Amino acid sequence: MCGIVAAVAQRNVQEILLEGLKRLEYRGYDSAGMTVFNDGVLTRHRALGKVAALTAQLDKAALPGFSGIAHTRWATHGKPSEANAHPHHSSDQVAVVHNGIIENYEAIKESLQRSGYAFSSETDTEVIAHLLSEKLADGLSLFDATQQIVNGLGGAYALGVMCAQEPGVVVGARQGSPLVVGVGINEAFLASDPLALLPVTDRFIYLEEGDLVELREQGAIRIVDRHGNDVERPIHTFEHGDGAASKGDYRHYMLKEIFEQPTVIEAALEGRLSAQSVLIESFGPDALALFQRTRHMHIIACGTSYHAGLVARYWLERYAGVPVQVEVASEYRYRHPVVPEGTLFVTLSQSGETADTLAALRFAKTLNYVGSLAICNVPGSSLVRESDMSLMTRAGPEIGVASTKAFTTQLVALMLLTLSVSKAKNQVEYLDIIAALRTLPEVCQRVLALDSQIEILSQAFAEKHHALFLGRGAHYPIALEGALKLKEISYIHAEAYPAGELKHGPLALVDSEMPVISVAPNDDLLEKLKSNLQEVRARGGKLFVFADESVGIDVQEDIRVLTLPHVHEALAPLLYTLPLQLLSYHVAVLKGTDVDQPRNLAKSVTVE
Ligand code: AGP
Repeated sequence: MCGIVAAVAQRNVQEILLEGLKRLEYRGYDSAGMTVFNDGVLTRHRALGKVAALTAQLDKAALPGFSGIAHTRWATHGKPSEANAHPHHSSDQVAVVHNGIIENYEAIKESLQRSGYAFSSETDTEVIAHLLSEKLADGLSLFDATQQIVNGLGGAYALGVMCAQEPGVVVGARQGSPLVVGVGINEAFLASDPLALLPVTDRFIYLEEGDLVELREQGAIRIVDRHGNDVERPIHTFEHGDGAASKGDYRHYMLKEIFEQPTVIEAALEGRLSAQSVLIESFGPDALALFQRTRHMHIIACGTSYHAGLVARYWLERYAGVPVQVEVASEYRYRHPVVPEGTLFVTLSQSGETADTLAALRFAKTLNYVGSLAICNVPGSSLVRESDMSLMTRAGPEIGVASTKAFTTQLVALMLLTLSVSKAKNQVEYLDIIAALRTLPEVCQRVLALDSQIEILSQAFAEKHHALFLGRGAHYPIALEGALKLKEISYIHAEAYPAGELKHGPLALVDSEMPVISVAPNDDLLEKLKSNLQEVRARGGKLFVFADESVGIDVQEDIRVLTLPHVHEALAPLLYTLPLQLLSYHVAVLKGTDVDQPRNLAKSVTVE
């Protein structure tokens, strides 16, 4: 998704803005640009493609100045091109960067055109520049002009704007898309994500929906809420350190994040289990009472987070006896859901800013849920702030667009939820699962040690165009997640099925060209899964099986087997995720794709 960086500093801002854009590259984008107040005028550079292309332009013609705005664009309205890249200007008097979608831009554009404004892009954003220009011509300050025009903007936006008349001023606004203020020493900054600003500050203000902010020289920051009242927002210190935003010795962020999983799983558990018990209060002081009243759950999420929710359904129904409905947020928010009495609304999100999930939460708050719980990786995010309760997954910043450690820590959090609800409602503690959770980081470490064997397996996929993933029970969502990973980063078409469903249609696809990947933990569905695998072999399919060391599937010409250490049945979905992540990673590397920033995708999907 689009990324915004802005600065009002006591030094040249070009490098601050460029470094910020590089740090936002993970969000996914197709062009980049920057406007700096330079020598009395707003001067702009824009480039199609990577931030490196913008850097190359700036190497030839630098943009020194003390205030500026910059942007990475992920195309929504208008193709990726230099003309559609931000910032958008109005007569070189106003410059605007925008993340989000202005839904009523067509009507605004027609009205502006009638007033004589000429448009130079196909974007929805350009209307904002001309609207501001109109207001500034009426004599308003940039801040007042922004305050007036945002009232007429429908849809979602985070904005950074500046104008030639007020050189040391940047104004920001937030409605539906994330924006943070970086608090420096006599300097102030804006960005879509704190990571962009870590070289210049570790202190951040998370703007609320409807907030408007003005940055001025000497680090002056003024925030006004949606009602026009001046407000003080708390300053948070970023806890993860800047190291989290670097690749270290790894070739890709994704690989680093896969290998971080033992550490972050340990972090996700820390302080949430006592010797014999799960600590329900990890979910907040009201959790016990709320879980006791919980008779149903609705879990809403998107993408990988949705897959975590699907695993949790198996856990919550089996171990806590709570009926669960899991749904993708973009569908849920437009249904007319029937909410049984005593239903808890649960959202899952790495970023906490996913537009569909956030909209689903806001919609759910109008219905008769007993409460809302967000399981999230970003403490100050909108989802966390707007939910009744939250549990942080503690995965640390995840830069690779393909989610890895965020998923496994979500699963840990969901198992803690399962154990907590079981304890609160039924007075049942699963001591065996609690004990197994403690050993999980070490078992994960042993699976990651299989990396070189998985790399060898990956060679069989590099020339393939399709793949099938199979799993049963709680491993069906793991198969879905494996297929999503392969699709996202290697661009191989992959589908996942519950293994028992194969014979109802997808078996027709199986021939010697179709690799079929299956996860085979030693659980009560193992024998049924083995029969399904025979159905594949009988049609000449090539099987790749990740199996528990005790299941006894023999390696043969048409079956390649990688054995995994034994783990408690309940936790197997967590463990079997790891080899599928590594497989996708190595296939993508062999195919030479952009592993961390796959084509067409964005990390934080802040538009509908
Ligand atoms: C997963 O690899 C993807 N990046 C994507 O499916 C992601 O999980 C989805 O967009 C939801 O994001 P969230 O967890 O930040 O809400």
